[in-house]
Amino acid sequence: MAQAKMIFPADFLWGTATAAHQVEGNNVNSDWWAWEQGNGRILQNHRSALACNWWEDAEADLDRAAAMGTNAHRLSLEWSRIEPEPSRFDMDALDRYRQILQAMHARGIEPMVTLHHFSNPVWLVEKGDFNSDIVVDYFQRYTAKAVELLGDLVPKWVTINEPYVYVFMRYLNQLFPVGQKHGWLAAREAVRNLLRCHAAAYHAIKAQQPEAQVGIAKNMAVLAARPDGSALDRRWARWLSWLYNESWFEMMADGRLRQPFGRGVIPNLAGTFDFVGVNYYTRFYVRFPPRNGLLEQEWEPGAIVSDGNYGEVYPEGLFWAIKTVLKYDKPIYITENGVPDVADGIRPSYILTHLREIWRAISFCFPVMGYYHWSLVDNFEWDRGWTQRFGLIALDPETQARQLRASGSLYTEICTQNQINSDMAARYAPQLLETMFPGAPPTL
Ligand code: FCB
Repeated sequence: MAQAKMIFPADFLWGTATAAHQVEGNNVNSDWWAWEQGNGRILQNHRSALACNWWEDAEADLDRAAAMGTNAHRLSLEWSRIEPEPSRFDMDALDRYRQILQAMHARGIEPMVTLHHFSNPVWLVEKGDFNSDIVVDYFQRYTAKAVELLGDLVPKWVTINEPYVYVFMRYLNQLFPVGQKHGWLAAREAVRNLLRCHAAAYHAIKAQQPEAQVGIAKNMAVLAARPDGSALDRRWARWLSWLYNESWFEMMADGRLRQPFGRGVIPNLAGTFDFVGVNYYTRFYVRFPPRNGLLEQEWEPGAIVSDGNYGEVYPEGLFWAIKTVLKYDKPIYITENGVPDVADGIRPSYILTHLREIWRAISFCFPVMGYYHWSLVDNFEWDRGWTQRFGLIALDPETQARQLRASGSLYTEICTQNQINSDMAARYAPQLLETMFPGAPPTL
């Protein structure tokens, strides 16, 4: 059948992404587990509980990922399993991670491994974690141990997931487990220590595994004034967007702090990334002065909004995010992208339109090397519990029953054919045919 095709490079990485606490289950030594036990902290008092049972059987979902034709997966290590007490490393836990990583290789799935994805050992929190300088040495040692025992299986490392989301949710919103301190001054201190941890981990990895690719997974969101916003709204949006989307990269690139995080140089920080990882989901409007919180929760008429008012579908923002990080002249990975959509009504078109933006970037020779869809399977969504479902595979956490969603079948076709095309659009999201493939030959 004649089709219009957007073909990806032969070595493009087609992946999915997860994080330890969200999928492993019974993660009892982490601050998230402790936090979930209190009432009123997680929507509907949900708990991670068995999560997706990966600690027992990640292999079953890895079989599914392989059957989908993916060749990459991003996962994280749970520090509190590897070091359940300060300085005691649990060899059984490290062995289990080895098994999981070997299982990925055996299925042709290349691992990208994150060292810190929102959760901490309880003992670290008791010591003040990111508000205590001690965290840097601990993080370096944990990293060195992980690299020593697992590095031969891990070509790509991510030091820290979404540092600003983490700091915002923990210190300013307090929707994530709070530590000993909160508020703006503590947040500022945490950002500086996260940068130091990142630098220490980068060098600890490189010392043992010089060929490893090491980077960061940075959430990027379009922050914009409404079209009819004031000049002040637009200036505020520009500054906020620089702060949120760009300041971390700038600091990591030249090693110098930017205000409002402080002044001066962080030793050994400059140039500590080999690739840029972009987590992109949505666009938010902002206004000055803010009304109900920093981010507006109202959308333009006609906007497609995902479950739980999570955000609007705005694929052009992915192209913008890629363009924004081009100046660092590094390979770019889309380390997360997806949508909460239990009914799977918008995920197929979300996937197609976001991949179209990546294809457009690649056709301009922008170095986008891979895409990790969030997520392979429905998992425990932090403060939103099980109320938001991001999986290509639907999961019933009670029975652990799984079912491939239509978007999962679409992703299978995409990964196995290394392309998106008008025939896929016709079958999974016909409303896109006219806008995505105008002039394409009619499908039968
Ligand atoms: C990102 C997180 C990830 C997941 C998605 C939906 O901010 O990194 O763990 O919760 O959002």
